[in-house]
Amino acid sequence: MEKKMRTDQEMDSTALTDTAKMIVADDKGLLAIDESTPTCNRRFAEIGIPQTLENRRAYREWIIKTPGLGEFISGMILYDETIRQHDADGYPFIKIIADEGIIPGIKVDTGAKELAGHPGEKITEGLDGLRDRLREYSGMGARFAKWRAVIAMGQGIPGSACIEANAQALARYAALCQEAGLVPVVEAEVLMDGVHTLGQCRETTTAVLHAVFNQLYMQGVCLEGIILKPNMVVPGLICPQKATTDEVADATVECFLRVVPAAVPGIAFLSGGQSGELASARLNAMQVRFAGKMPWGLSFSFARAIQQPALAIWHGEQANVPAAQQALYHRAQCNHAARRGLYAREMEWAIA
Ligand code: 13P
Repeated sequence: MEKKMRTDQEMDSTALTDTAKMIVADDKGLLAIDESTPTCNRRFAEIGIPQTLENRRAYREWIIKTPGLGEFISGMILYDETIRQHDADGYPFIKIIADEGIIPGIKVDTGAKELAGHPGEKITEGLDGLRDRLREYSGMGARFAKWRAVIAMGQGIPGSACIEANAQALARYAALCQEAGLVPVVEAEVLMDGVHTLGQCRETTTAVLHAVFNQLYMQGVCLEGIILKPNMVVPGLICPQKATTDEVADATVECFLRVVPAAVPGIAFLSGGQSGELASARLNAMQVRFAGKMPWGLSFSFARAIQQPALAIWHGEQANVPAAQQALYHRAQCNHAARRGLYAREMEWAIA
């Protein structure tokens, strides 16, 4: 039978779709090591690691070189400083990652700034010159990108100005990424800080995701070629009414089932400051309780929930690298198990 030639555009969207599917394939997930320099320095300062360029490079080097990470991690999100760096022998980080079978990605927003006229709310910047930066990153070997919108909860916030401005920026970013052949990871984070209840987080997350998908539609973004990176639906950190793991799982997935189109290949959570164990347990509960009922892959794209224990063990000392790598590998393994609904507390005792 004669095969029809595909147009360039169709081939491009096929490549995007393939990459997006690969990101969530085989129960793997993303490891975000894309902290900006100030954020990475802040994490170092909290535990007394000197905040130097060389320490940031050394930190990323041992993470990237953790033996066997590719068993559980499909892609890594890098930061502009990191994507240009090399290991101690001069081999480019991005090549080391690709050689391990891990897809390299890049954070491309330039941070969340105060939203003028809206105290306590933020707008993510970075659209100016983005087309050129995406072209450069793509030339370096990146295959996906990330942009994070931040939504704070509190008295009278978020307002629609903040939600709409961030949703539109996310959609414009996503369209530019797809034009450049990069899969956009669309990150909309409703922050955990505050007294809000589980129900209020669910309501806000629903409103934010509705706005985001509306804007993605308006900007002509191909949903088959994106990954959504949302928060889990959880009560605020100082809300007196705590939620069980199952309550979080139900509130989160029920929200997504109503708002996230089935065309989206994958949803990869941010951890948002939850402990590694809690993040794994909640992801696991979602897989168990909604097995066979979700049209998209439900995965992870954690920074702190994978890195934090390993960073503390490393503490800036070369001698601690093997133990730190073991801790990193362990958290990646736990999240891979959680994707299969096979995570259990006993896995934590094994490492202890
Ligand atoms: P956390 O998992 O630490 O919330 O970070 C997620 C993130 O957006 C980094 O890309």
